[in-house]
Amino acid sequence: MRTPMIAGNWKLHKTLQESSGLVTELIPAVADNRTVEIVVAPVYTALSKVAEVIAGSNIKLAAQNCHPEAQGAFTGEVSPALLKDVGCHYVIIGHSERRQLFGEKDEFINHKARALAVAGLGIIFCIGETLEEREGGQMFDVLRRQIRYGLKQLSADQMAGVVIAYEPVWAIGTGKTASDVQAQEAHAFIRALLAELYNVQVASATRILYGGSVKPGNIDGLMTQPDVDGALVGGASLNADDFARIANFQPPG
Ligand code: 13P
Repeated sequence: MRTPMIAGNWKLHKTLQESSGLVTELIPAVADNRTVEIVVAPVYTALSKVAEVIAGSNIKLAAQNCHPEAQGAFTGEVSPALLKDVGCHYVIIGHSERRQLFGEKDEFINHKARALAVAGLGIIFCIGETLEEREGGQMFDVLRRQIRYGLKQLSADQMAGVVIAYEPVWAIGTGKTASDVQAQEAHAFIRALLAELYNVQVASATRILYGGSVKPGNIDGLMTQPDVDGALVGGASLNADDFARIANFQPPG
């Protein structure tokens, strides 16, 4: 009952021409896929162009970040309303690169989440533990903290617009994917936590994506896990063939 989502986070890659070239290749490669929600997140400067190219296709647009305020003296920032205006369905927030490289804290991420919910945009909310936290036995505490504070004050109704992406930091860009069992363990914990913080309906309706070195060779295994509802893909989303193969994963069974 949860529609799988495969989302490509292009991070800081690709010019306008390269971005439009990538989606132009991707469109026919995923055109027959009616069962998966397919999303791409280009850099801000390519959003408008990519929106134009994917119009009428089954690919949706996401932004990689936003600022929580609607307008004002916030040099260099982009608001939820502007992202909606350019054609975004979703906005990624809480990515570990934002947390680690730009010092974003749970409270600020929560401010973005609330602003996006009010603006009527979908949210791809990223969480995940570092290797140190995992090895120190703090993984579940970290995930709990990120969810409790990151989604604070979002109502059960607003949770319908939230997709959670579990991205263990040690698996991002390292080629070390979490095993199917490790992903399932974290996802099951997250779902149980949603039942505790909200209710069973929210827990069973919320999609939980896995992210961290997802490739054509490991997506099928990950998707066999009952609580893995899709993937947030970095490096492999920069290549149309690879990303199409991931989006066209072979369903379990
Ligand atoms: P990689 O797929 O390159 O490991 O990146 C994962 C990620 O950070 C997606 O948001």
